[in-house]
Amino acid sequence: MPPFRCGVPRGPGPLISGTGSPPVRKTRGFSSYPRPTVVPMTSSEPGLHTPDRVAASAAADVPALHLRGVVKRFGSFTAVDGLDLEVPQGIVLGLLGPNGAGKSTTMKMLTAQSMADEGEIRILGHEIPAESKWARARMGVVPQHDNLDEELTVEQNLRMFSFLYRVPRARRGEAIARAMRIAQLSDRGDTVVEDLSGGMRRRLLIVRALLHRPELVLMDEPTVGLDPQVRQDLWGVIDALRQEGATVLMSTHYIEEAERLSDEVALMAAGRIIERGTPTDLVAKYAGTTVEEYLPDGEGIDALEARIRGHGFTTRRTGTTVSVLRAEELPQSLRDRLTVPLRRASNLEDVFVTLTGESVE
Ligand SMILES: Nc1ncnc2c1ncn2[C@@H]1O[C@H](COP(=O)(O)OP(=O)(O)OP(=O)(O)O)[C@@H](O)[C@H]1O
Ligand SMILES: [Mg+2]
Repeated sequence: MPPFRCGVPRGPGPLISGTGSPPVRKTRGFSSYPRPTVVPMTSSEPGLHTPDRVAASAAADVPALHLRGVVKRFGSFTAVDGLDLEVPQGIVLGLLGPNGAGKSTTMKMLTAQSMADEGEIRILGHEIPAESKWARARMGVVPQHDNLDEELTVEQNLRMFSFLYRVPRARRGEAIARAMRIAQLSDRGDTVVEDLSGGMRRRLLIVRALLHRPELVLMDEPTVGLDPQVRQDLWGVIDALRQEGATVLMSTHYIEEAERLSDEVALMAAGRIIERGTPTDLVAKYAGTTVEEYLPDGEGIDALEARIRGHGFTTRRTGTTVSVLRAEELPQSLRDRLTVPLRRASNLEDVFVTLTGESVE
């Protein structure tokens, strides 16, 4: 049996399939920290928030991201296929999907590196691409590949970008100090980048995108290829961002990371969002509370899987075993005819594999 898929609403109606209203924004600890939009900026140049611009889009109910019917084609191939996605301000949204799902293509349209063929994109109320300069000024983009200036120190790298981001002179010192604090690099200001560890470099790369206090941060696989310790360092940075009220859109192949960091996750496949919700809700909806792994006993693995599925259960192959989702509901009569299972808590990876039919990398 092929993996089941959930439908995506088309046309009018809810923008996103999923579990209902967005979560209440978390305000852990730093709720009184000023929001980026209220930082007084002084020029009418893009990169600085003039009062009318702020008034147009600073309201908390303006979505950080609004994509409707977005299509991106490469020749005859459609990479993004009528994508609907709305992200409220102040959450971390993990974007999950198999290779080729269209995650990076979507990110590139948000940064106006690539133009949509159809559909509507608004970032913090700004139409894309018409107002992309304004949108870019209010967001930080963390590139997948490190492009720090290796010959400069931590502080010099940040200072250079504070110019590029047009942080007002009076605020530069504070912005750089804050960035170093978030990156836990306050005592490394004079260290040349090439002398930093990989994890320190990655943290610097991220906070560099935060100097102008962006309201929205886009990260395309920020932890790819990093060792577990470095990834965990990065998690601290993302958590700090959320505590300050920023919105984060982060694509990742590390499901555990998405489960741990995201207020909500959106699962993307074949250019569309196929499901979305809080990790807890998605796990409960698709995988219940418990997964049990059964070894075939006498019969082959195909027959074992068919038998369990015949009782209406969702299964997935895990190496030589069959994992049964929502195993807490297995009837005793069926359980009696199975081997003693390995039992574990259901997780987001079970949901991902079930919905996309892809195994995790
Ligand atoms: N410039 C391009 N020209 C042609 N096809 C492209 C181009 N960019 C992306 N694609 C195709 O669009 C599809 C989506 O690619 P995209 O990079 O967005 O996927 P992804 O979800 O980011 O995947 P991954 O997890 O591997 O990074 C793929 O089939 C890819 O080959
Ligand atoms: Mg990608």
